[in-house]
Amino acid sequence: MPAGTRVYGYLPPSSHVVLTPERVRPEGFVDASPHRAGLPSAYNSYVRVDGDPAFAGGHDDEQMLLRPLFMTSYLLADFLSSSGLLAAAVVVSSASSKTASALAFLLARGLPGAPAGSPNGDQRDGEIVGLTSAASERFTRELGVYDRLLTYDQLDSLPEGRASYVDIAGNPSVRETVHRHYGDRLSHSAVVGATHHDTLAQAPAGGSLPGPQPTLFFAPDHMSKRTQEWGREELERRVAQAWGSYVEWTSRWLQVHHGRGPDAVREAYLQLLDGRIDPARAHVLSL
Ligand SMILES: NC(=O)c1ccc[n+]([C@@H]2O[C@H](COP(=O)([O-])OP(=O)(O)OC[C@H]3O[C@@H](n4cnc5c(N)ncnc54)[C@H](OP(=O)(O)O)[C@@H]3O)[C@@H](O)[C@H]2O)c1
Repeated sequence: MPAGTRVYGYLPPSSHVVLTPERVRPEGFVDASPHRAGLPSAYNSYVRVDGDPAFAGGHDDEQMLLRPLFMTSYLLADFLSSSGLLAAAVVVSSASSKTASALAFLLARGLPGAPAGSPNGDQRDGEIVGLTSAASERFTRELGVYDRLLTYDQLDSLPEGRASYVDIAGNPSVRETVHRHYGDRLSHSAVVGATHHDTLAQAPAGGSLPGPQPTLFFAPDHMSKRTQEWGREELERRVAQAWGSYVEWTSRWLQVHHGRGPDAVREAYLQLLDGRIDPARAHVLSL
């Protein structure tokens, strides 16, 4: 690869990085460094920006900020759709998070890039129900992608009927309330994230949960499955098409702030730790 080639992937905030390129293709390569061998392949994959359909429209900031989360949301939407779970409600916790709102965006608009008549091209029938904190409620409502939005103290208003649960908060008490509300009417319970990390030590009361047991959804696993079934190019084509409409939407509400130098990085990090960052604000930082 010629000097100056730009690649996209996980890179350390550092003056340089030593990689061991393997499986070099025109589109990119895989880092085969021994200390990274145990990581899922998505974490060791580097793609050339100039050959990537998702980069065709630019949006470098959004690529850095949102792309891995968007990929997760796309794969989740694809998983829910291809598992027949969109016939009923989809309840999503931490609805204000980027992963949740991108999922709701994709479900609300249908998965672009999917051939009409395929499972992924079909429209959903159930509501998208977001669960969020009182502090994030206004921001989340204004996103306009949830059919119904409840705060964590309004879970007694969860809709009736069948549902599946996409758990991005990882909050044991919210999970238990959702499982107890739906019981056997819950078709699937996907464990995606743990944004409420301060609650993780709580064990659910009363032993095992009613309904299906929560199952880890790990995006790189579903990506490998789709890469085998569709081929990498087809997966990239579909994601790039969905990405285009997603970044057009985020540009209406996401404010990107650029910072440079250790003080800017430290300040943004401390704000994040304290929960002082406005969910509509994003930082692109450089040391
Ligand atoms: N399984 C996978 O393959 C996979 C892939 C990618 C990401 N993930 C996981 O998905 C989760 C979401 O990631 P994300 O980057 O989308 O999250 P994010 O946009 O940073 O959102 C974080 C959310 O955390 C909640 N929160 C709790 N305490 C907070 C505080 N003090 N300040 C601000 N927010 C607080 C808020 O949700 P509410 O107020 O709405 O609860 C907020 O929207 C993470 O746990 C991540 O590790 C999993």
